[in-house]
Amino acid sequence: MRAERINGVGVEVHESVDGMMESAAGKLFTRLRRKSGSVIGLATGSTFIPFYKHVSARFRDEGVSFAEVKTFNLDEYYPIHAGSPDSYHSYMWRELFSNIDIREENAHLPDGSAQDPEAESARYERSIADSGGIDLQFLGLGGNGHIGFNEPGTPFSSRTHLTRLTQSTIDANRPLFSDPSNMPVSALTMGIGTIMDSSEILLLAFGKGKAAAVAASLKGAVTEEVPASSLRRHGRAHFIIDEAAASGL
Ligand code: GLP
Repeated sequence: MRAERINGVGVEVHESVDGMMESAAGKLFTRLRRKSGSVIGLATGSTFIPFYKHVSARFRDEGVSFAEVKTFNLDEYYPIHAGSPDSYHSYMWRELFSNIDIREENAHLPDGSAQDPEAESARYERSIADSGGIDLQFLGLGGNGHIGFNEPGTPFSSRTHLTRLTQSTIDANRPLFSDPSNMPVSALTMGIGTIMDSSEILLLAFGKGKAAAVAASLKGAVTEEVPASSLRRHGRAHFIIDEAAASGL
């Protein structure tokens, strides 16, 4: 592993995806040992499947409890029922929550079946604020530089909101749907401003498909056209990536 600082962002480049996940899970557990009631922001997507495997295994081996932990997921498709196998709600229970001792009432996601998406967005923001704010936020990275479902052009000041997915995001995520023809084309997502309020941020990305977005985020202009470039203004943001994702740096 090599570590460097690029334009205000701490960057760890790992030789293997396993090494990346080990490091990211280690940072989570260190924080939980320091503060058992930590508030953790969580992400979904294929990047986080190996991460949650590591976290689940370490939970069994190390006996660190999530009983006091609160989690807030970045986003959820809209409209979708929590019980749909394709919802991020189902993903989180399948990949992580069922394997750890988190309390159901402490595991938060936006409600993709809310009648009024604006009211739901405001409720989600309030519930993050009422928890005391996010201590550690995990992020994946879209091939177009998106974070959460904040697509290129989303204001850096945005809060939780309903957004329309771009065609590239629809194309990237459609194969993951059990019924691809029924994929929602909108989502509720924390805004970039919401993400930037977190005390610390860890972005995970691996594979060649992320190389251009990693390079644009860390070395291109800081611009709303590249949502992840906002992280250069944070101060405590870190990228944990593999050699392939770092190949454009
Ligand atoms: C999705 C999610 C993001 C995720 C990104 C990358 O659109 N909403 O939170 O980070 O895509 O996904 P993947 O990890 O599958 O490449």
